[in-house]
Amino acid sequence: MAVILRRICFKYTKCLVLSVLIAFFIQILIALSFIPSINDNLLKRNGYVSFSRQDVGEVSARKNYYGYSDDEDFPVNNKLSKPGTLLRLEELDFKPICEIKSREAISAIHRAKTQNCKQQIVNITCLIQGSNFYPKTLPNNCPHEGKTYGKYLGCYVDEKKMRLLSGFYGNYASTNSHENCLYICVQAGFPYAGVQYGSECFCGDTAPPISAKLADDLCDMKCPANPSKMCGGYFTMNIFETGLTKFLSRVPESINVNGESVKIVFLLTLNGRALRQVHRLINSLYRTNHYFYIHIDKRQDYLHRKLIVLEKKFTNIRLAKKRFSTIWGGASLLKMLLESMKDFIELNWKWDFVINLSESDFPIKSLEDLEKFLAANKGLNFVKSHGREVQRFIKKQGLDKTFIECETHMWRVGERKLPSGIVIDGGSDWIALSPPFVSYVVGKKDELLSGLSIIFKHTLLPAESFFHTVLRNSHFCNTYVDNNLHVTNWKRKLGCKCQYKHVVDWCGCSPNDFRTEDWPRIQNTQDRQLFFARKFEPIINQEIINRVEQFIGYNDHYLLNNLEGYWQSLYNVDDLTASSDDTLLTHAESIARHNAKILTAEDCVIDPDVIVEINSYTHADIYKGNLILHKALIKPNHVIMLETWYKPKKHLELNFENRYADYIKIRKSDYCFKKFHIQMLKEQTMI
Ligand SMILES: *[C@@H]1O[C@H](CO)[C@@H](O)[C@H](O)[C@H]1NC(C)=O
Ligand SMILES: *[C@@H]1O[C@H](CO)[C@@H](O)[C@H](O)[C@H]1NC(C)=O
Repeated sequence: MAVILRRICFKYTKCLVLSVLIAFFIQILIALSFIPSINDNLLKRNGYVSFSRQDVGEVSARKNYYGYSDDEDFPVNNKLSKPGTLLRLEELDFKPICEIKSREAISAIHRAKTQNCKQQIVNITCLIQGSNFYPKTLPNNCPHEGKTYGKYLGCYVDEKKMRLLSGFYGNYASTNSHENCLYICVQAGFPYAGVQYGSECFCGDTAPPISAKLADDLCDMKCPANPSKMCGGYFTMNIFETGLTKFLSRVPESINVNGESVKIVFLLTLNGRALRQVHRLINSLYRTNHYFYIHIDKRQDYLHRKLIVLEKKFTNIRLAKKRFSTIWGGASLLKMLLESMKDFIELNWKWDFVINLSESDFPIKSLEDLEKFLAANKGLNFVKSHGREVQRFIKKQGLDKTFIECETHMWRVGERKLPSGIVIDGGSDWIALSPPFVSYVVGKKDELLSGLSIIFKHTLLPAESFFHTVLRNSHFCNTYVDNNLHVTNWKRKLGCKCQYKHVVDWCGCSPNDFRTEDWPRIQNTQDRQLFFARKFEPIINQEIINRVEQFIGYNDHYLLNNLEGYWQSLYNVDDLTASSDDTLLTHAESIARHNAKILTAEDCVIDPDVIVEINSYTHADIYKGNLILHKALIKPNHVIMLETWYKPKKHLELNFENRYADYIKIRKSDYCFKKFHIQMLKEQTMI
């Protein structure tokens, strides 16, 4: 017995030892895969984010930055341009005015569909190649307080543990020079720039102490880009003034002492068909002393038709007459905003702030709270900065690339160098601006504004950095508040899927919709100076909007009959632009006929007529089907309106004897299948 026992034990011990060993090795393997590379560690220890020019392109912004800003964008890992691509002249019905060198431009020209767009890309690319297109330098008109660009302060001793200039560090093995370092430090808004060890550039906010000053000959290493000049030495640094003063954003007052009132222009830029939500938004902000200026995308005639009636009823609501078709990230967005501002300035409204909103924004504080806050801060301008390292922001945002907008697409055509002399800033595109600043921006263009308008005409997501950059470089620089009054719902994993690839040559992220489970996030903003949140989409989740309304003081919800219901137009008979989804209409017609058949069988003879409207209907955030409003004829010659409610079936059974089955087998790609799947779903409906 003992022998047997021992034998079994022995067997198990072997087993045990083996499995412990295996587990051990697996752990090591796992651990290895989590250890950051040595490089990462070194950088962190130094306390700097360091990178050289060459590095930058390879750094994946996605991996390194998880800050909060509004629209985050990452370069498309693009296979667009293979090396050595030549422009296929035979596809052009014009002769290019120059030889296009940029591979990205060639790719864009090939991909553009119309000759007009191809020619626009060619024309602008040629102008840029001629290198007189963009301004090389622009003025910074922020008061300089005696600081001078490039003024040499001397050679100073630096310490590894306590850097003299601690705002930025970069290593430029071949391009470092006084000018290059000044260019970078000005761009990032620092008052001091210093070069060290030949290739290093530092920027900082505080002047070096006199005690650290050395004899000039201790800065004895040549600048890689200009060997006739010295770029510091071993822990010695030549330091210069950039001409800027230390930037301090304004801290807004939180209490309105003198009880002043404030008038706000709500600049609504709308798109889509969420009419009920637009009404709800206007309702939540409406007071007779405020104004609404509404720009509706040129393609959205439904929303325009439905909102134009407001102009007649309310003298403080105006719709933009000049309408633009804007695209995500497009240059047209800025144009639209500036035109809208110009337009309402001419209306002679008396206002103190303009706040930019869309149908997916909603207030998260009462209007009275917002009024109180803004009344205490008249004259200030609210924007939000990216709050990170400027060189990285420029890369991430694609500010160093030229984009051309045509065919409702932003084509990327190549690299560009931003002008020297100005601070580059940006972050989010939700703003609250003061009248003097808006008048300045849309008024007569000085050198700064005309230069910036050329740059921003060819910039991705221009509204996200134009106003910031103008503020930082104009005499309005001391009215800058680093708060755009908005909270956004960022969930990067969900929001960054390159979902705009079809409209821009770039990968952009968008914030996510607020849902019921995000409620704590909104609640947590209660003590902060945040007054709006985005995005809300009632067709996705309306409960959160109901809650927010209660939160900001609506207490009449119990009076509403169908608080949890939501419907949104899918089709309207007056739509000018034919619905892109023709199956929807065909479908509705067939359901209306089917309905008539049923009614006829029940001795109610009707003859279905034109479909007036189709609405998608949800209740308690669950899709309940579509509502078809249609005319019908009833004997003798009566026209009545009928609404039919139908719901698509949830499940689809594929009949593989069906002739379409082959199609599915051949085109196995997920996408095709999904499309087909949906098509079939729509077909299999019931009343
Ligand atoms: C491009 O430039 C040519 C020559 O200057 C001009 O004739 C043409 O109209 C321009 N086309 C576009 C689309 O800008
Ligand atoms: C204004 O709001 C719209 C939202 O529709 C946004 O896309 C746009 O970029 C905003 N612009 C500014 C300057 O705030």
